[in-house]
Amino acid sequence: MNTIVNGLQWGDEGKGKIVDYLTESADFVVRGQGGNNAGHTVIVGENKYILHLVPSGILWPGKQNVIGNGVVLDPLGLIQEIATLEDQGVTISPDNLLISDRAHVVLPYHCDLDAAQEQARGKFAIGTTRRGIGPAYSDKATRNGLRLADLLDPGMARELVSVRLEDANQFLGLHNMDSHDPAAILTAVEGALERLRPHVTNTIPTLHQAWKTGQNIVFEGAQGTFLDVDFGTYPFVTSSNTTSGGACTGSGLPPVAIDRVVGVCKAYTTRVGEGAHITENQELSDYLHGLGREFGATTGRKRRCGWLDCVLLRFACMVNGVTDLAVTNLDGLDEREEIRVCTAYDLDGIEHSYPPAQRDAWERAKPIYESHPGWMSDTSGCRSWEDLPGNARNYLDRLSELAGAPVRYVGIGPDREQTILL
Ligand code: IMP
Repeated sequence: MNTIVNGLQWGDEGKGKIVDYLTESADFVVRGQGGNNAGHTVIVGENKYILHLVPSGILWPGKQNVIGNGVVLDPLGLIQEIATLEDQGVTISPDNLLISDRAHVVLPYHCDLDAAQEQARGKFAIGTTRRGIGPAYSDKATRNGLRLADLLDPGMARELVSVRLEDANQFLGLHNMDSHDPAAILTAVEGALERLRPHVTNTIPTLHQAWKTGQNIVFEGAQGTFLDVDFGTYPFVTSSNTTSGGACTGSGLPPVAIDRVVGVCKAYTTRVGEGAHITENQELSDYLHGLGREFGATTGRKRRCGWLDCVLLRFACMVNGVTDLAVTNLDGLDEREEIRVCTAYDLDGIEHSYPPAQRDAWERAKPIYESHPGWMSDTSGCRSWEDLPGNARNYLDRLSELAGAPVRYVGIGPDREQTILL
């Protein structure tokens, strides 16, 4: 059984936890897109792990993890992440982590270009994580990128980085940022590359072999549907396809290899960075932050919180082909007397069931809400559908109806055991 796990909102839906849950019966866990802009938090017993590039299957013994060709990989960030995991007692070797030789690399100048581009955007700044993700993906698309296979060949790397920097340094200079020296860049990443070299391989035949021999593969999506460069709230998006198709192009496994798509959403909606958020609600944000919830795993920024937006959810289930919904953080709403759900947008007096493409429409759209009574009780100890309070079950039933997909998993806390399977 091959399963894609995707975020249905703006990232941070709790995918790490659902992937971790599904990993128990998996042989392979694969990342196909994004970079270390992602932050997945997984809690195992007393230990909290924050993963950026390494698939969360690393926390299980005997699982092969793959960073696929569609990922943009910062070698310095990755070795730091590996070192932190090793300090926490996780063993990492080519037996449990393989990296595609086709993955593009993020080098220090990509991070500076990210900052310079944000500065150049002025009031249109996106609020990126400044991890160089956009510049690395644009270098890939303009055929100016370096793949790991190139970087592992010192002569080739020197030539490619020198040519790229001629242009990149000019842009950085225009924005009063220091230029980069090709030799210094390559020296800076040398040690990291040597650490990673044994892991780098052609991962595509390995994954096909796993598929053909009936092993279970879980694809761990990073970010969420509305950060997708095609389907998201463009231009306030990331630079990869975060939706289910990205798992195929990002790994080399074809769509026919996929058996199910698990879409993960919170019981409410959050977003970090700039851009539209139709159901954003200051009072709910303050409430959740007051509970110590909803701070970004990568940048520590406060997430902007709001009610569940089913216009987004409906569209996300459509473009991802969601077969199973996983609703996380239900316990965040435990003490709310009234719970609101956005069922449609009012745009200039016309009701819309799907998100608009026009940039200015996001500023004019108003949420149309329906109201649900809260359950006003602690769900964190619930272990079955029957354990959940009646109003929580009604809320989930309505969510499923509005989204057009069945709820299969409900998250009621950060621990591995706090996931109800329906
Ligand atoms: P970038 O991916 O760093 O270019 O950032 C583009 C947008 O995506 C910004 O609004 C980021 O805050 C957002 N973003 C990127 N990765 C994540 C993530 O893993 N979770 C939530 N938001 C993210």
